Amino acid sequence: MIEIAPSILSADFAFLGEAIRSVGGETSWIHVDVMDGHFVPNLTIGAPVVASIRKHSDSFLDCHLMITDPWDYFADFARAGANSVSFHFEVGRTLELVEMAHGLGMKAGMAVNPDASFDDYAKYVPEVDMLLIMSVFPGFAGQSFMEGVLEPLSRARKMIDESRCGTILQIDGGISTDTIRLACRAGAEVFVAGSAVFGSADPADAVRRLRSAAESALEERS
Ligand code: DX5
Ligand code: ZN
Repeated sequence: MIEIAPSILSADFAFLGEAIRSVGGETSWIHVDVMDGHFVPNLTIGAPVVASIRKHSDSFLDCHLMITDPWDYFADFARAGANSVSFHFEVGRTLELVEMAHGLGMKAGMAVNPDASFDDYAKYVPEVDMLLIMSVFPGFAGQSFMEGVLEPLSRARKMIDESRCGTILQIDGGISTDTIRLACRAGAEVFVAGSAVFGSADPADAVRRLRSAAESALEERS
């Protein structure tokens, strides 16, 4: 499975509907970056925007919660129509959050910062629906891919394959047609891309190019 999840963080918020429609023919995922100005030094959007998107899109709304108190907002995201919520490992209460997300009918993702130690979070990997490895420190779009995360990415791939737990492996940050190849070879299957998609004059074509770069790297992997 290869999926490109365009991050609307890099879209023009005044034309959000148009941005989402522009990639709808190429992918069924939309990545929503939620920041609270506390867990990360930036503020973005929240559940009301997800509710607005939901009215106009059937896409899988993958909500990345870069917030200190995700437990206080899960119900709002569920009501808004989020399909998944990825909370950060760094905020703690992981198993409780997984149960809470499932109870509200959403998939549970665990996001980890680039400096998180695989050994510290490995035990949670089989418990979550998705592991989101950050390849930049969260907070802003347009940063450079950190190649140091290729190692935990490969270790996570190996663990997921060996245990057959089915956890989806996602990578987020600095994805381009070059870095997507590295991440794909290391085992990622869902690729979040912000500036590479919405910073391009033709977002649909950008998604196509990312997908074909990942597919060719996948052939090299097998
Ligand atoms: C970073 C966000 C990412 C970001 C990706 O804090 O979580 O999803 O929007 O943007 P690019 O692809 O430009 O690194
Ligand atoms: Zn994100």
